[in-house]
Amino acid sequence: MTEQDFILKSYDSNIENGSVKWSAPSNIALVKYWGKREHQIPENPSISFTLSDCKTITELSYTKKESHDFSFDIYFEGEKNQAFKPKIQTFFERIEAYVPFLRNYHFRIETSNTFPHSSGIASSASGMSAIALCLLDIERSLSEVGVSDDYFNRKASFLARLGSGSACRSIEGELVVWGENESIVDSSDLYGVKFQGEVHSNFKEYQDAILLVDKGEKKVSSTVGHKLMFGHPFAQERFSQAHDNLAKLKAILASGDLKAFVKIVESEALTLHAMMMTSMPYFILMKPNTLEIINKIWKYRTENDSNICFTLDAGANVHVLFPKAEKEQVYEFIKSELVAYCQNGHYICDSVGKGAKRL
Ligand code: PMV
Repeated sequence: MTEQDFILKSYDSNIENGSVKWSAPSNIALVKYWGKREHQIPENPSISFTLSDCKTITELSYTKKESHDFSFDIYFEGEKNQAFKPKIQTFFERIEAYVPFLRNYHFRIETSNTFPHSSGIASSASGMSAIALCLLDIERSLSEVGVSDDYFNRKASFLARLGSGSACRSIEGELVVWGENESIVDSSDLYGVKFQGEVHSNFKEYQDAILLVDKGEKKVSSTVGHKLMFGHPFAQERFSQAHDNLAKLKAILASGDLKAFVKIVESEALTLHAMMMTSMPYFILMKPNTLEIINKIWKYRTENDSNICFTLDAGANVHVLFPKAEKEQVYEFIKSELVAYCQNGHYICDSVGKGAKRL
């Protein structure tokens, strides 16, 4: 599919008002996206687990108006919010060609997260996918032709990508691939696709405990970080490594080889941070406690012949990944040894989920 396939050509503009509500999950990348071209086109493919409990719930109410400027109000956790307005304004500008009814309605956007706002967990993925889904739902009611579920999901992912790259992996579950890759049929730079390969039972209901090491604002935004991959001395090697790792992971997901899974996932996390440390200007997002946790995980894994591993986003928090079969022991370990490194002892227990839901 190309961009042209997502342009809405005709719609019934007689609908006066209405309201839609969606919940959309967060996701955690196993092979990381880092580096993009214009229009949020990724430099390399990525794959993520969709999460189950960390999500954004958004209700979009719309009322017909004269077609001039964009008009919308945002309520975040019940309170009117001005801070998110510029982001949504930019999002609307980017997606207008694909949802041309945007100027015909005033929107009331009511949104909230199931995780604390100041947790350092990026809400842009779940937030942008939730609003993209609401807009697509409105498009479906205005549309004069029926749309298939596949088209709906692809276009929602396509729109979400224009809001925040990794948001395009927050529509479906349980594993989503974004970015063209030879080993994944139907993969696209324009939207995320549900991973259709075989998945061994070892990876069913995989667990993710998110250890909140640092809840503050990131010192370097991911927008700036992506840009620093331009002219980065290791960029081309890194992009081709991501292609290889995705192909390898596909085979690992089928075979259930947990040891091989751990190696790829941890190497991807450290490579992401290595790219940050070797860009110009260079920066470090890990904190001393991030490293303390990593070392504890390695020690625990060796001593207990466990399959626990870690991954990192563009921040200091640690996602601890492990098979469901190890749930009890790993939570004991987290409580006794890792909580001490979490800010105010906070961590979030999550697991792999099935994707966004209409409410
Ligand atoms: O979607 P963005 O622009 O916030 O980038 C996120 C990139 C990482 O979280 C670091 C990796 C990924 O693939 O999610």
